[in-house]
Amino acid sequence: AEKIKQRLAPYPVLVKPVIHSTNQFLLEQIAQLEKGQLCLAEYQYAGRGRRGRDWLSPFTGQIILSAYWTFPPHISLNGLSLVIGIAIAETLQAFGAQRIGLKWPNDVLLQGRKLAGVLVEIANRKNGLLNLIIGIGINLALPKQANINQPWAELREILPHFDRDEIIIALVQRLYHYLDLFEQKGMAFFHSRWTEWDAFLNQPVSLISENSSQHGIERGIDSEGYLLLETEQGLVRFNGGEVSLRRA
Ligand code: BTN
Repeated sequence: AEKIKQRLAPYPVLVKPVIHSTNQFLLEQIAQLEKGQLCLAEYQYAGRGRRGRDWLSPFTGQIILSAYWTFPPHISLNGLSLVIGIAIAETLQAFGAQRIGLKWPNDVLLQGRKLAGVLVEIANRKNGLLNLIIGIGINLALPKQANINQPWAELREILPHFDRDEIIIALVQRLYHYLDLFEQKGMAFFHSRWTEWDAFLNQPVSLISENSSQHGIERGIDSEGYLLLETEQGLVRFNGGEVSLRRA
């Protein structure tokens, strides 16, 4: 933990052995936080996932990380989670991970199974800024019978030896750099890079929402980060908050 704190200075780092949820913890402290505040945990007993789901980390063997970030109020947050996905994928690739891809909007997949997830929570708009908590969970090495109700993957499948602290340091450095670039240049800057990571490009997929689903061919994203689906009615665009994507 000391190494992480030194290398990520001046950003403040809190390391919690056991916590309900690193996202929830930072949300509770938000009034006192500085931009770039990190919270890391070994064990999370009430981890949150996207769309109201749980995120199970009932054991060490994950990266469990939340970061506090702010943007000026005029920034469109559409595409933000895609940029976070790129930062995770590129960091893992820099450590030698191969065969990983991104599932829109921001799951990191290893051969179709989930390796990492991202949950961005918007806290409030005080100080005239957008206040966000960015939560990242990455499976490194889980127990054999991990009781996770979707196909999951872990980093050790592709990297038998890795240094978790070094991955965390590299991930945060890359993430913060990309968040600055996103603020300055927008989603368009990351468009082609995201497309290269897209695990479903030109493949048949279903987009599932609460009460309907649409089928079509995935045609990547537009310059703002909306997903493009080629359907019988033509090209339809989707926002990440509305739908989840499945292989058809
Ligand atoms: C998802 O794919 O559904 C998103 C999962 C996000 C999990 C991370 S782990 C660190 C942070 N704290 C939480 O409670 N959730 C996020």
